[in-house]
Amino acid sequence: MKYGIIGAMPEEIDRVREQFETFHSQRIANRTYHEGTFAGAECVLVFSRWGKVAAASTATALIERFGVDFIIFTGVAGAVSAKLEVGDVVIADQLCQHDFDVSLTGLAERFEIPLLGISNFPVRPELVNQARLAVDNYLAVGQNSVYVGTIASGDQFIAHPAKIEELRSAIPDLLCVEMEGAAVAQVCHEYGIPYLVIRTISDKADHSAPVDFMTFIQEIAKEYSFEILNRLLPALRNSSTVLEE
Ligand code: ADE
Repeated sequence: MKYGIIGAMPEEIDRVREQFETFHSQRIANRTYHEGTFAGAECVLVFSRWGKVAAASTATALIERFGVDFIIFTGVAGAVSAKLEVGDVVIADQLCQHDFDVSLTGLAERFEIPLLGISNFPVRPELVNQARLAVDNYLAVGQNSVYVGTIASGDQFIAHPAKIEELRSAIPDLLCVEMEGAAVAQVCHEYGIPYLVIRTISDKADHSAPVDFMTFIQEIAKEYSFEILNRLLPALRNSSTVLEE
């Protein structure tokens, strides 16, 4: 099993990179892909840059050029659900693109991806469970919690309560917003490979979001990605060995 690991910002994967045993780094279309091992797993580590197009093209390169057969996205997100606090972790059990809307054509509903006929990309439940165990183990020492639910992606940094209110009523069970996860999910879905999107809450997508986001990114985010992947990858490797036997 070869894992593609994506973060949307260098800060999200810096700490992973420090412990990453790199065999080879290759620059393709403005991204640097690091091939190597982390926590005993064969991985390709890359920061995608921001947004759905950047994430989708990076995921495609990981699959086509590097032959990864599993993609894990780790990074930060803005809270939509009122129960979430900064530092909580959300594991997607499904992802949707909140800025996707061709409903005026009458051919699809809001959020529905034409031809695929779905609005949400589901994550395999056994993978969600393994991610939950890894995050639980990490968060056990502090006061933050792990949640499983819907993550929505769009090409906007959201810092407005009215927008959050609108998304909350349009997407039931929405936990948080970010800018890449559902794009990676769509690429993986169409290629038929498994994926996980794990997001730490950096802000509440309100007026203070820009400042909270920058502080979190600079000071805390990289620890989460590192600590979670360090627990998750060995667990996934063990279970995939069992599945392959
Ligand atoms: N990622 C982290 N915070 C975010 C926000 N408020 N909107 C979109 N993406 C984010």
